[in-house]
Amino acid sequence: MSITSGDFRQRVTVQTLAEKKRKREPIVSLTAYDYATARLADEAGVDLILVGDSLAQVVLGYDSTLPVTVEEMLHHTRAVRRAVKHAFLVADMPFGSYHAGSRKAVENAVRFVKDGGAEAVKIEGGISRLDIIHRMLDAEIPVVGHIGLTPQSVHRMGGYKVQGKTAPAIDALLADAAALDRAGVAAIVLEGIPREVAARITAQVATPTIGIGAGPECDGQILVFHDLAGLTFHPPAKFVRRYCNAGELIAQAIHGYCDDVRSAAFPADAESYHLPREASRALGEAAPAPLAGQK
Ligand code: KIV
Repeated sequence: MSITSGDFRQRVTVQTLAEKKRKREPIVSLTAYDYATARLADEAGVDLILVGDSLAQVVLGYDSTLPVTVEEMLHHTRAVRRAVKHAFLVADMPFGSYHAGSRKAVENAVRFVKDGGAEAVKIEGGISRLDIIHRMLDAEIPVVGHIGLTPQSVHRMGGYKVQGKTAPAIDALLADAAALDRAGVAAIVLEGIPREVAARITAQVATPTIGIGAGPECDGQILVFHDLAGLTFHPPAKFVRRYCNAGELIAQAIHGYCDDVRSAAFPADAESYHLPREASRALGEAAPAPLAGQK
């Protein structure tokens, strides 16, 4: 068994992420939920791929992340695992999977590593999750923390609102980040917080921070793939940059296909299989005449 992948790019590990922070090399992170997009992201050189519980909204059509289950997350994590050769693969633990006691939480985390092939799990929350995080680390499972706007707390927060805008809220975030740092998490996602607060946290912790709606001073950035690619059906949030409008391109392609089938322009003869000459003769048939509208 070789120690390195044998490919020109080394696998990204917990140590690579820490090294990138030390060298001030930005950590590029992206969500993926299926084989094709995970493969494109991995081959493009993304450092960290997250099978996010945003799966619930962008792939499964729920209106929050709350309904997605461990089984659904595992199903998609396995598909992404089959594609990813280089990036560090993190699976999100869905709502409910680490809230009913640390024993159940560790059992579920083990499933993401054992059955899903993830290299780390992500859980939302800071100080309130420390006990669970310690138990996961004891079980040799790297953990990624997630503080600020934590979508699984949507009902407590009263909506998807930027967090950390008052002095007590900033102090609480700094305390959460310091606690996660001391616990030894692999990275901390900072979501939906003022740039200035994210910069302060990033400067104060040794753990790499990965921002989403948290400004440019974080050690890395993450976007939801469907936001980046323009595959969502609502106006994007302020922090999203759309790198293409795949939704429009795909819609055009499907309209073109509908038109071609309805006008009998698809399939053409070149897209059809033919009998060998002898078999045609045996059937007593001439080669089929092209349909109306076909070249
Ligand atoms: O589920 C997700 O996509 C996430 C990112 C927003 C970090 O947790």
